[in-house]
Amino acid sequence: VISVDTVGDLRRQLARWREMGERIALVPTMGNLHPGHLRLVERGRDLADRMVVSIFVNPLQFGETEDLDAYPRTMTEDETKLVSAGVDLLFAPALSEVYSRPRTEQTLVQVPVISDILCGASRPGHFTGVATVVCKLFNMVQPDLALFGEKDFQQLLVIRRMAEDLCMPIEIRSVPTVREEDGLALSSRNGYLTPGERELAPAIYRQLNITATAIQSGDTDYLRLEEQAVNALEEEGLRPEYFQIRRALDLAEPTVNDRQLVILAAAFLGRARLIDNLSLTLD
Ligand code: PAF
Repeated sequence: VISVDTVGDLRRQLARWREMGERIALVPTMGNLHPGHLRLVERGRDLADRMVVSIFVNPLQFGETEDLDAYPRTMTEDETKLVSAGVDLLFAPALSEVYSRPRTEQTLVQVPVISDILCGASRPGHFTGVATVVCKLFNMVQPDLALFGEKDFQQLLVIRRMAEDLCMPIEIRSVPTVREEDGLALSSRNGYLTPGERELAPAIYRQLNITATAIQSGDTDYLRLEEQAVNALEEEGLRPEYFQIRRALDLAEPTVNDRQLVILAAAFLGRARLIDNLSLTLD
């Protein structure tokens, strides 16, 4: 894998591939790579000639009380994984390469409404931080396509909306969540769990499935289902932040006519904040 840390070197390398007419895919990450990230890379390799992965822990998307300092940084292990995965180029810029101005003087990319609900309600500014850095990475790499995991469903919709609204000529592809055998969605934050908490963690996915099954069998009392799920998670020892049944298209409250739904959940377990979701189509 070719590894670069400046936009200049990145662009020189990409220009060679572009001249040869090669199609370029980007997987943006914050590192600490797990099989979920590698699934994105695998899919990208099927769809493009060159695979670029970026590793950048983006301070702009962390709240002041969040885990920016604790966020796992495992560059050496990550590089080894990227070599095995057949990645062509690793872009790992320093903070100053991405942000040259103080926070208050930066241009920000704000995607309204969808950024303010669910995870955005408890993490103010988070999705602006995500949209801003992804916009920058898109402009730096100028990929033909970019891949994102469905685990961060709200993030995926924010990025799709940004790309559409700002007329970015980039195809956004989503890739299904990769799970442990017991259903727990892979996440770098799973590393914060103690062995005891790790045993409790699959409760989130179990509860998503219980709710999905109830909806599929005709239950339309979504408020009651949400409340039951919150109670069940609390009983299992988690601290749910939200458990919501939404319209998959834009995460609005569903009406009786909506057939494409997504159930989204966030819960604290010890010091880890875990999120997960499950999409369903009503017939
Ligand atoms: O999903 C992530 O890892 C991050 O939010 C992303 C998309 C790399 C932006 O920093």
